[in-house]
Amino acid sequence: MASMTVNEFNLFQKFIYDHAGIDLAPAKQIMVSSRLTKRLNYYQLDNFGQYFELAMSSDNPQEFQMMVDILTTNETYFFREPKHFDFLQNEILKSWRGEHFRLWSAASSSGEEAYSIAMSLADNLGGRKWSILGTDLSTKVLEKARHGVYMMDRIELLDRKLMEKYCLKGVRSQEGTFRIAEKLRQHVRFKQLNLMKPLPPKMETFDVIFLRNVLIYFDNDTKKHVVERIISSLKPGGYFFISHSETLSRITDQLEMVQPSIYIKR
Ligand SMILES: C[S@@+](CC[C@H](N)C(=O)[O-])C[C@H]1O[C@@H](n2cnc3c(N)ncnc32)[C@H](O)[C@@H]1O
Repeated sequence: MASMTVNEFNLFQKFIYDHAGIDLAPAKQIMVSSRLTKRLNYYQLDNFGQYFELAMSSDNPQEFQMMVDILTTNETYFFREPKHFDFLQNEILKSWRGEHFRLWSAASSSGEEAYSIAMSLADNLGGRKWSILGTDLSTKVLEKARHGVYMMDRIELLDRKLMEKYCLKGVRSQEGTFRIAEKLRQHVRFKQLNLMKPLPPKMETFDVIFLRNVLIYFDNDTKKHVVERIISSLKPGGYFFISHSETLSRITDQLEMVQPSIYIKR
């Protein structure tokens, strides 16, 4: 088995920083090396430098995306940081009076965040119109999000009543899994979007944006650019959620903190 040299690690480190803004700490070398070893074996290559060249060559866009997928961290789960869902329900949805409620789960990973929000919207907005956009850089997680099938053993925070109302339990060969019901999935769409790139020209504006557990991978300059870009799509008076483990201190003056990790656009 080939071991990754520091120079080889630096290639991947620089690449993912330039492409996605992700600041890979040197301590991540072992993780990167073990994740990429499978690709090295698949192509029967001798070293990681050869793999990097192959993934970067213009005639292999699929391997390029595969490398990006491998270098991202996609950890997520249903109703992560439950206080955010309490706030969404009690402080935003209960008093919301509009025609169409739009929410963006930026860096949605495999969809657990977007579908948790969907359950809250379906429960609180009655028959009113609502939609959710989920975006991520990794096409692998987006595929999973669109499919909407999850393992039963990863749902500690998913309320049993919501589960019964909005999820379908798998039977026979699907035993141990569940699928998000079509009545929710029809309100949620997923597409690839790199937060480092300008937003699409016809990007809609949102009442609420969730940008949770991704800023931690960015340095301060990148954070500033990403946050400024994203909040250009947030309506004035709209809410912006980050993770409790992240901070926006000295990042923008367009947002005012309502509670730790929850902001309103001025
Ligand atoms: C840890 S997950 C967070 C998922 C979810 N928001 C949550 O809080 O559970 C971080 C996600 O950010 C995505 N990501 C990282 N850099 C990105 C970028 N430049 N553009 C878009 N998505 C990015 C990763 O692919 C990953 O799925």
